[in-house]
Amino acid sequence: MTAVIEIEGLRKTFRTIRRGARVALDGFDMTVEAGQIHGFLGPNGSGKTTTLRTLLGLVRADAGRMAILGQPAPAALPVVTRRLGAIVESPQFFGNFTGRRTLQLLARAGGVPLDRVEHVLAQVGLRDRGEERVKAYSLGMKQRLAVASALLKDPELLILDEPANGLDPAGIREMRDLMRELAAAGVTVLVSSHILAEIQLICDHVTIISRGKRVTSGPVAAVLSGFDRGEFRVRVADLDHAAEVIRTAGLEVTVHEDHLVVADVGDPAWLTEQLGQRGMWVSELTPLTPDLESVFLQLTDGDTPRQVDVVGPPRNADDVAIELGGQP
Ligand SMILES: Nc1ncnc2c1ncn2[C@@H]1O[C@H](COP(=O)(O)OP(=O)(O)OP(=O)(O)O)[C@@H](O)[C@H]1O
Ligand SMILES: [Mg+2]
Repeated sequence: MTAVIEIEGLRKTFRTIRRGARVALDGFDMTVEAGQIHGFLGPNGSGKTTTLRTLLGLVRADAGRMAILGQPAPAALPVVTRRLGAIVESPQFFGNFTGRRTLQLLARAGGVPLDRVEHVLAQVGLRDRGEERVKAYSLGMKQRLAVASALLKDPELLILDEPANGLDPAGIREMRDLMRELAAAGVTVLVSSHILAEIQLICDHVTIISRGKRVTSGPVAAVLSGFDRGEFRVRVADLDHAAEVIRTAGLEVTVHEDHLVVADVGDPAWLTEQLGQRGMWVSELTPLTPDLESVFLQLTDGDTPRQVDVVGPPRNADDVAIELGGQP
């Protein structure tokens, strides 16, 4: 496996005149290998966009090491920029141009053959709407146009910050299919999102960030199984009596309104036997496998809303101007 994105110990503190210092990245690490569809998850304000902006040279890091497509970033970005496509938060397009014209201009500016424009319009499902002005596009259509612009260069690495923002369920599904197609064609995709079910469906690997630090990463299945407590949902008529029996047998039980949750169930047949022997008949026995949402909430518990520490005045006016220039 070759890493296409490597981030180690990334640090970034924003200093603003009014609010003082704000630690956005606090020694963040991430590795994305070639061929992955890698989900980048974290609560609002946890540092996802800052990471991507820093990686793409839009924000200057305070410390840390980054490499993209095997080249040091941001120093070697000019060398690799042709091989990567990125949208980091919604790009602004000129409203009076049509979608097609917008892409043609971008293609010309980037030295991309013009026939790519029709290809990417079709890829994102905008072929029939390409002659409409961008200002008449819906949010979802603008988002598709943004993805189309990132695909123009036929990139081997695609970085998408919240691509599902503003899309309706059908649009989200198309975006998912598009990412799968791209991955099947060998494109590595790094996608940030807070739609966890979506990430679970699309991504094979995840990195979860909380308060500017990585809290977990790895194959989705491995991350989930790390949180598998062998829990089962059990339904019986007499919940309290059943709970007592199971507890006496040494297992941990929580009683809910109309069911029990039993942890560390090695063999579910043993449970039915224990209860059946006492005349309690199990009407439901369902394994509770963790999903990304429950894992995410456990790992990032209390992250939102978060306190922002004020640790000092801005360094100098130039830094502040640069940093305020970029949108958060
Ligand atoms: N240009 C900036 N100036 C000052 N503070 C900033 C700037 N950009 C980001 N921040 C702060 O850095 C922290 C991380 O923000 P970031 O945008 O990276 O979060 P995020 O994970 O992308 O969140 P979201 O899910 O809401 O997009 C936040 O506290 C944010 O307010
Ligand atoms: Mg963001």
